[in-house]
Amino acid sequence: MSIEEKAVRKVVIAGNWKMHKTQAESLEFVQGFKAAVENADETRDIILCTPFTSLAIMSKNLHGSRIKLGAQNIHWEDQGAYTGEISGGMLTEIGINYVIIGHSERRQYFGETDETVNLRLRAAQNHGITPILCVGETKAQRDAGETENIIINQLKKDLVGVDQNDLIIAYEPIWAIGTGDTCESIEANRVIGVIRQQLDNKDVSIQYGGSVKPGNIDEIMAQPEIDGALVGGASLEPDSFARIVNYN
Ligand code: PGA
Repeated sequence: MSIEEKAVRKVVIAGNWKMHKTQAESLEFVQGFKAAVENADETRDIILCTPFTSLAIMSKNLHGSRIKLGAQNIHWEDQGAYTGEISGGMLTEIGINYVIIGHSERRQYFGETDETVNLRLRAAQNHGITPILCVGETKAQRDAGETENIIINQLKKDLVGVDQNDLIIAYEPIWAIGTGDTCESIEANRVIGVIRQQLDNKDVSIQYGGSVKPGNIDEIMAQPEIDGALVGGASLEPDSFARIVNYN
């Protein structure tokens, strides 16, 4: 993998706010953040994945800025009796371009399966929303030497009928999420290389996620296979996330 090959792929830095920030707190964040990323390298896509309740007001506030918005879930039907779910049309109406699908927290706590992940991926694309598909192994699976098999299997099931020209993938080892226990960048690079081998489109942007911080982003982004980051905790504070977007 050469630097030239990496250069054709898009760099995507996305913040995953999870269940953090009210509307007022979201607007307060962008006040400082907008100016801090204004001069960021223009080849970098910057995305904030906020809670549903903040998306509409953020969409108005960020109109005309280079910061894009993402949701954290999408249902596969356009409407219906699905209490607590949100449809693609509800997201596109307010200008949402991205959605995180298959995050390990949804798989772990909310019964998300590869089958529902697949349905959500296809629904997002049908609505013109680019999905960020999360895959990754648990600590026990890693210790048992199953990392590659688990991820290859997730990709096989998740990507049935999915257009690889409109897709971002995030490799998120579950043991590295929110733990401060980052995956070594060389190992993250290796696994992302394995993910790329499984794809028909080798130019899909593949992010690393799991305890990305201002202190390790430069090293992570120096890896040839890694095209961006999906950032949880360190995306909640404007200076910290701006430093990540402005990696060296
Ligand atoms: P973290 O979360 O950066 O807080 O580890 C990453 C994620 O869950 O996407």
